[in-house]
Amino acid sequence: MILCQNLLVFKFQKITGVKKYTQDFYGKEKWRNFKENLPHQQLPFSKRNWGHSNHSLCSYQGKLKPSIANQLVTSFVPEDGKILDPFSGVGTIPFEAALNGIESFGIDISVPAFYISSAKVSSHNPKDCYRYINLLSDYIKSNKCTRKELIEVKRFGFNKTISEYYEKQTLKELLLARRFISEQYPKTPSEMLVVSALLHILHGNRPYALSRRSHPIVPYAPQGEFIYKKLIEKLANKVERTLNNELPLNFKSGRIFNQDINTIWPQEINNLDAIITSPPFFDSTRFYQANWLRIWFAGWSEKDFKHQINSFIEEKQKKSFDVYEGIFRQSRERLKNGGVMVLHLGKSNKCDMAEELKKLSKRWFKTADLFDESVAHCESHGIRDKGTVTSHQYLILI
Ligand SMILES: C[S@@+](CC[C@H](N)C(=O)[O-])C[C@H]1O[C@@H](n2cnc3c(N)ncnc32)[C@H](O)[C@@H]1O
Repeated sequence: MILCQNLLVFKFQKITGVKKYTQDFYGKEKWRNFKENLPHQQLPFSKRNWGHSNHSLCSYQGKLKPSIANQLVTSFVPEDGKILDPFSGVGTIPFEAALNGIESFGIDISVPAFYISSAKVSSHNPKDCYRYINLLSDYIKSNKCTRKELIEVKRFGFNKTISEYYEKQTLKELLLARRFISEQYPKTPSEMLVVSALLHILHGNRPYALSRRSHPIVPYAPQGEFIYKKLIEKLANKVERTLNNELPLNFKSGRIFNQDINTIWPQEINNLDAIITSPPFFDSTRFYQANWLRIWFAGWSEKDFKHQINSFIEEKQKKSFDVYEGIFRQSRERLKNGGVMVLHLGKSNKCDMAEELKKLSKRWFKTADLFDESVAHCESHGIRDKGTVTSHQYLILI
């Protein structure tokens, strides 16, 4: 066959008069109230564990405070509205939407985040959860760890090697559970709930944790005795506790996608009332490193920690904020006329993230507001999870 080359030349033509933006947007009054009164800093919202118990399905570095998510969702989205969080993490924003009867979508590149958020935005059939736990239990009873698996955990880890986190038998059960998940990966939200519960109990400093004493959010070097912990028993307890947390009658299930935000978004994400999101802050901790043990358990190997990390925005934005151009373009396309984009950002001495993104968004959006909230009052959870962030910024684009 004769091959040929075609050269297509496109001319950029400024489109005028197609979409007219006004300074008005849904929730303008509620937003003014947020800025004047900072309700998330007042009782009952300011309580440490405010919100639905399923927000704590699994600890996650960088999780937004549920009370902030609640205020943003209920301010900017009408009751029968539709929203997207393109950096949905463990689903705090979509879950708050679901709890308030709002249709929600989320996108995140991280597999553990995908499982956890999918489980949160769904209601569950306990039978499906227990069926998956039974399959896992049978698998652990009837299989053995390979030499390769046992060598990997003796060599690999960040603060300590993985084998130093667990008693010998617990570690074997965990390795088999990891293989089970890679062979029969969770397909339904109820199966994802089981995996999320397992991800939660993977490490921590309380009796529920399978590890030696570590930290529930970041797996810091473990301490204390090596004690055998029965995986299935601890897992079933956590799943049962989660299933007992009732969902409100107006709960509306959402949908999460596991993909890189710089690829084309699924077509069903359209006609949105709002996009509300909190992307990785410029100089905050790297999520994949802070969540390494959970990411490893969900399937990454040592090699992935060297190569896959390059798709994460926190790596890309160190070179340039241009990575956000495609995100703004797709956001404009998927929002309905009059829709609003709300970004929750971190300002530091090195970088004024909101100013940078405001400049970049100009081609697609008008800035309706930029509000700075000092984080001097924030608790630090005993770890340096704020990085060098001096204030939180809310950039409102229309
Ligand atoms: C600040 S966290 C979001 C936390 C979320 N609001 C919550 O409460 O859980 C930022 C998220 O961006 C995700 N992320 C980083 N790079 C990404 C990319 N290229 N595509 C999609 N998600 C990405 C990370 O996995 C992380 O979960």
